[in-house]
Amino acid sequence: MIMKVVYGGFFNLSDFDFSSQELCFLRPPFLLCIFAGFLLNSFVIAEIPLGSKLLVADNDCWVSSNGDFALGFFNISDQPNLYSIGIHYNSKSIPTSQQTVVWTAGADITVGNESYFHLTQQGELILFDSLRGIPIWTSKTGNRSIVSAALRDNGNLVLLDKEQNTVWQSFDDPSDTLLPGQSLYVNQTLRAASKNSLSSYYSLDLNASGQLQLRWESSIVYWVSNSPSTSNLSAFLTPSGAVQLRQQSLKPVWSVFGEDHNDSVNYRFLRLDSDGNLRLYSWIETAQLWRTVWQAVENQCKVFATCGQRGICGFTASGATDCRCPFELTDSINCMVPYKECESGSIMLTFKNTFLYGTYPPDESVIISSLQQCEQLCLNDFQCTFATYFNNGSGQCSLRKTPYVTGYADPSLSSISFVKRCSDPLAVNPNPKQPPPSEQPMELCLPCLIGAASGTFFIFAMVQLGIGFCIYKRKGFTGRKTATLGLASPHLKGLAVLSFSEIKSLTGDFRNQIGPTMFKGLMPNNHLVTIINLNAFIEERKFRGAVMKMGSIQHKDLAKLEGYCCEFNHRFMVYEYAKNGSLGKYIDDSTLCKKLTWRKRLDICSTVAKAIYYLHTGCREFVSHGNLECENVMLDENLTAKVTDFGFARIDGQASYCGFSAEKDVEDFGKLVLTLLSGSRNHEEIRDWAYREWKEGRVENVFDRRIEGGMEVEELERALRIAFWCIQMDDRMRPSMGEVVRVLDGNSSVDAPPHPFAFQKPLHEDDEAQEYGSESEV
Ligand SMILES: *[C@@H]1O[C@H](CO)[C@@H](O)[C@H](O)[C@H]1NC(C)=O
Ligand SMILES: *[C@@H]1O[C@H](CO)[C@@H](O)[C@H](O)[C@H]1NC(C)=O
Ligand SMILES: *[C@@H]1O[C@H](CO)[C@@H](O)[C@H](O)[C@H]1NC(C)=O
Ligand SMILES: *[C@@H]1O[C@H](CO)[C@@H](O)[C@H](O)[C@H]1NC(C)=O
Repeated sequence: MIMKVVYGGFFNLSDFDFSSQELCFLRPPFLLCIFAGFLLNSFVIAEIPLGSKLLVADNDCWVSSNGDFALGFFNISDQPNLYSIGIHYNSKSIPTSQQTVVWTAGADITVGNESYFHLTQQGELILFDSLRGIPIWTSKTGNRSIVSAALRDNGNLVLLDKEQNTVWQSFDDPSDTLLPGQSLYVNQTLRAASKNSLSSYYSLDLNASGQLQLRWESSIVYWVSNSPSTSNLSAFLTPSGAVQLRQQSLKPVWSVFGEDHNDSVNYRFLRLDSDGNLRLYSWIETAQLWRTVWQAVENQCKVFATCGQRGICGFTASGATDCRCPFELTDSINCMVPYKECESGSIMLTFKNTFLYGTYPPDESVIISSLQQCEQLCLNDFQCTFATYFNNGSGQCSLRKTPYVTGYADPSLSSISFVKRCSDPLAVNPNPKQPPPSEQPMELCLPCLIGAASGTFFIFAMVQLGIGFCIYKRKGFTGRKTATLGLASPHLKGLAVLSFSEIKSLTGDFRNQIGPTMFKGLMPNNHLVTIINLNAFIEERKFRGAVMKMGSIQHKDLAKLEGYCCEFNHRFMVYEYAKNGSLGKYIDDSTLCKKLTWRKRLDICSTVAKAIYYLHTGCREFVSHGNLECENVMLDENLTAKVTDFGFARIDGQASYCGFSAEKDVEDFGKLVLTLLSGSRNHEEIRDWAYREWKEGRVENVFDRRIEGGMEVEELERALRIAFWCIQMDDRMRPSMGEVVRVLDGNSSVDAPPHPFAFQKPLHEDDEAQEYGSESEV
């Protein structure tokens, strides 16, 4: 489906661009109670009594007394067996396909086909999910003396007490839409429906000083209302088609008007669309469609991350937004700088009136320079992929290391950007064995890629071996001298050197096994230790050299090395003991795994990431873990993780000290995160499934159902995204552990990951088939 239409020197990427996907996500929901509107006269319930229930299977709805709105289940994700419940237009004058959803219970929650929505006798609204077997959303009004509920004529679902006071209303819990008469208060947000991985981070809020702001993630504000700074305001959509900021006295201090303001229009709504733009829509009776009458960001290219990683945002001749990659594609979805291993050196391509930025990884360094210096600095820095010079007198030069090109071009922009590429186009491909995608079908690239990865690995391993050898030469001698000191006299570095018979007696003749090659041991001073049998013959000098290096590494998230045994062909490591044994034991046991709550699992991810980050960067020399897996993450009495068994890479059960690569650790970490989130150890099997679930907006399905107390969807999304980045087949695309730590700690955004097998064909084949439509259609 890649149409290589050349215009203006760019390759057309419109098949993958945001706007064409957008149309797909705006595909009308499949409403279950489509006949409700027609049965209007015989079928109106003004009040919803306690005990009322809506079942997916019943195709039933609660309808407002004027028939304009209905609350019911709908299927929006094109997954025949997944549903959401919400309020949608129901008017007879709006065709079913245009009966837009204006509120969804729990925003993006989807449930199974035997679920129900229940107004309990206690006055609580509960959405019960048949897939998970639990109530997945509630109005939390169980003890608030509710006596009834009603769907108001303006689309507001309300829960009322005896005095008919509103105790809870859907207007106070908005999803992505404001209806006429609905207010948005400080601390409330509209969040774009997470119909794709980019949109989930767009939100609209009103801050304490009275500014409406559109944001990407929490940090990047790309549109501000610039209203007079006043506290205690609320945003309000008027029935006449204006968006206002009003004081408590209801007096407006700021307004914007739709182009049909004051016209007689039956239906309007304001929505934060999944392309990150805030739009006001009117129902055009004659044309039978929703028309945009105002939008916050005039130039869609100025919405942050509009193109994601798919290149530079611009416009086609017809005025539609378009993402263009300045290179021939090496990756079917993302626009990636082909900058590594250029055989004939690099050059910089210049883009006038273009601003480039990074969404992920967010690394940016800004320096003050001249235009020429800016270009040269990026060219001469191996890691720099592109740079933007702010040609506005500030002299600011922003240098980026992300491999993905993203940004926008506009004649009004003074900035100039430079993108690095190889000077010889034939050297663009990092691996000469891999044919350019245009010449050979994509599928063929997969085995080549594996070849490339192992080739790279081999070179890396050789280099590491060299480093290992140097360490040995420097430290091996000290090691040998201490070999005879034994238990009674700890080694200079605090490491006990044990004989095999001592190991045997400490472990009670290996009776206290706590993992496949792991034993509990009791030192003479009643101090518990974990003893790991490396089960491999490692040359003595090499082993001692490695142990010396390990012994000098101390970090609170790494199990402390306390001693070792190196006798004949026995190689044992003695680590500090963690009371609760290995993470693997907890994941595999159906009772123990419940102790790993959502919070604990996230903590474990973050702790392990910090431990590996420390190994990679905090030591005098780079140390890879080499063997990160559940068995090597120990849990102490508070279930806090301690990483153990580091520094000895293991292949096929053979340990060898030669270090592995950072990329291998990152991949292993990604697999560990996937295991922690899903509860499944079989990452090979679940990887594709998990990616598909995430990609298609059903991120909750990946979540380990055995966890009690639920999870935070946003945190799950973030952790999954970073996991998918970590397990990218192409190891150049994997983040560094530093980036992983920042994302997990919430200090960095993480962009939508491509499929771990980037050369696989895109998941949404039907998306690609979508064509551009009139921008005004919803
Ligand atoms: C619910 O979905 C499952 C498949 O996920 C299907 O086997 C079953 O028949 C469906 N039940 C109903 C009532 O549609
Ligand atoms: C509200 O937003 C504006 C614009 O982003 C900012 O200048 C102001 O400091 C914010 N006020 C508060 C109280 O956060
Ligand atoms: C804002 O509202 C609060 C509570 O309604 C009130 O106490 C405060 O005085 C108001 N501030 C202004 C500046 O109107
Ligand atoms: C709509 O009508 C009101 C009152 O008649 C007027 O104040 C306002 O300016 C009108 N809006 C527009 C956009 O003309």
